Formats: sequence, C-alpha cells, structure tokens
Amino acid sequence: MEYRYLGRSGIRVSELSLGSWVTFHKQVDVDHAVEMMSAARDAGVNFFDNAEVYAKGKSEEVMGAALKKLGWRRGSYLVSSKFYWGMHEGINEKDTLNRKYLMEAIDGSLQRFGLDHLDLIFCHRPDPHTPIEETVWAMHNIIESGKAIYWGTSEWSAQEIVAAIEIAERHHLHKPMMEQPQYNMFHRQVFEVEYARLFRDYGYGTTTWSPLASGLLTGKYNDGIPDGSRGSLKGYEWLREQLTDPKLIKKVKQLSTVAGDLGASTAQLAIAWLLKNTNVSTVITGASRVEQVKENMKALDVVPKLTDDVMETIEKILE
Ligand SMILES: NC(=O)c1ccc[n+]([C@@H]2O[C@H](COP(=O)([O-])OP(=O)(O)OC[C@H]3O[C@@H](n4cnc5c(N)ncnc54)[C@H](OP(=O)(O)O)[C@@H]3O)[C@@H](O)[C@H]2O)c1
Repeated sequence: MEYRYLGRSGIRVSELSLGSWVTFHKQVDVDHAVEMMSAARDAGVNFFDNAEVYAKGKSEEVMGAALKKLGWRRGSYLVSSKFYWGMHEGINEKDTLNRKYLMEAIDGSLQRFGLDHLDLIFCHRPDPHTPIEETVWAMHNIIESGKAIYWGTSEWSAQEIVAAIEIAERHHLHKPMMEQPQYNMFHRQVFEVEYARLFRDYGYGTTTWSPLASGLLTGKYNDGIPDGSRGSLKGYEWLREQLTDPKLIKKVKQLSTVAGDLGASTAQLAIAWLLKNTNVSTVITGASRVEQVKENMKALDVVPKLTDDVMETIEKILE
C-alpha cells in the first residue's frame, strides 16, 4: 500500500480505503464490520469513510462500535463523515449547509461514533441556498473547535469549490482540502475534465467513490441481477437500469478479457485503473463481505501490470 498526500495537506491517506455506504447496518453488522475493517487494515488501509445519512446514522454507530472493539490507537487511522441531508425533517435541518445545521451535525456524528474528533468531514452536496461564505465559516469553526481536522466537499462543481477556497484564503480560514467525487471507468467527465484546474491550480485532493460503479465493474451483473447483490436490494431499484445496461455490460465483458489476460479479476482491474491517475488521493472501496475486501485490496498487485499498451486497450473499450 502506498500513502498519498491528501491534496496540499500534510496528511497521507492509503491509496485504497474502505467506505460504508449501503453496507454498514443494512448488510454488515458490527462483527462483520470488525472483520472487514481488520482485513482492510491488514492490507494497509488507514482511512474509513462514512456519512451521517448512511442508514440514517446507523452506519456511523456500527463503525464506531467496530472501532471500539478493534481498539486501534486513534492516531493510526482516519475516519470521516459527511453532512447535508440531515437526520430530521424540520426546516433548517435537511438538504442544507447552514451554520446551525453543521454545528449540530458534527456533534451528532461524534456521539454516534463515540469519538471526540473526526479526521475528515465533507459537505456532502452543495447547497445553492446557503451562501458559500456561511458554510466556509462554519466548517472553519468546527475545525478550530477541534471536532474535525480537515474539511472538504463532495459532488460540488469546480466553480463552487474555487469560490470556497477563495473565501477561505481571503479571510485566512481553514480551506477545503479535498473533494469526494464519483470516479470510475464509466463516470469520468467531471473528474478528468471539469476538475482538471482544481488539481493544476490548487492541488485539490480527492477521495473517490463507487470505483466499481456499485458492482457493475465486477462482471456480477453480466447475466442479470444476482440474489443478494446491491442491485437486488429493496430501496436501490434506481440503480438497476445502469447495472443491466446492455451497452455497459458489453464493455464489462471486454474488460473481463483484459483482466483475465493479466491474471486479475475485473474488479481488481477497475480499481487498479483508478490508481494510475495521480489526481486520485485515495479510492474508497465498498464491500458487503470480507472476501470482497480481500479481493479488492489485491488490486494493488495489478497496478504495475497496467502498461501503456494495456491502458490503451482499456481506453479503446471505454470509448
Ligand atoms: N460522497 C458520496 O456522495 C458517496 C456516494 C457513494 C459512495 N460513497 C463512498 O464510497 C464508498 C464506495 O462506494 P460503493 O460502495 O458504491 O463502491 P463500489 O465499489 O462501486 O461498489 C461496492 C459494492 O460492489 C460489490 N462488490 C465490491 N467488491 C466486489 C467484488 N470483489 N466482487 C463482487 N462484488 C463486489 C458489493 O456489493 P454487493 O455484494 O452487495 O453486490 C459492494 O458493496 C462508499 O462506501 C462510501 O463510503 C460516497
């Protein structure tokens, strides 16, 4: 495992990390979380991603309970949460990045985790109604209070991110350091084109999500939706159209051939391909069982096999 600087910060994140969306609480209980986080840590992972909205706070509780059981030294790992959607229906408490919500959200999150600070916190989506300046000040104040160490954005436009950085610079506040965007073989435009200037001009860090496009890039959906997979879960019907898109499945099958030639699984190829991009600080992997964690971590062995020729073959498939 290599450790990449998170943008222009002094903190280093393992190039592969582990997240808990969909899985923790719904598919993974505390004991399984312990097993999966241990396997990830054995492979060198130092960053575990979470969000207030995941399983309505239960994902933070499961991860917090797992961390307690694991008993790792606090300094040896990084843990995150993300705020925007909120836990309550009340006005000012959902779909917002207002100051009151953010100041209370961090406290709720720390309580569920059972921790006294988080390492990375993200504004989970942009809020077009709250002035960016208010959000930047709130995130700065949370960091000054010691409840979090670094802050960033998730799925913000490059323009919004630049606005936040410039406000922070103007007022000498803690700047956002990293974005959490979707990035995978089938979702490239924003990361590779829109964000190019963030990387060039600001050295912005990234913790990228859905490396396997929710499992599509493993090949498990090649013949329909298997029982027990994410695509079969109640509440995730909206994913099914993409998971069974014939045009994408055709590409997955071609990618599987490339992976097979390299002695790798399709999932490992897809994850290794992301690591070739130096603008990625860490790829947040997801898994519903420990075997998947172990398989995905071995993507590290595939990176050196991605020669220019192999990358070109992949590019032709993805075109
Ligand atoms: N900031 C945001 O807005 C945002 C949004 C989404 C995710 N995230 C973060 O990014 C993390 C990763 O996203 P993701 O879970 O969508 O990642 P993903 O890698 O695209 O999908 C992970 C899912 O694919 C299946 N899978 C993984 N490895 C497999 C393997 N080797 N073989 C077969 N199936 C495999 C598992 O689902 P099944 O076994 O159930 O099929 C697993 O839960 C999340 O946990 C979260 O922390 C952030």
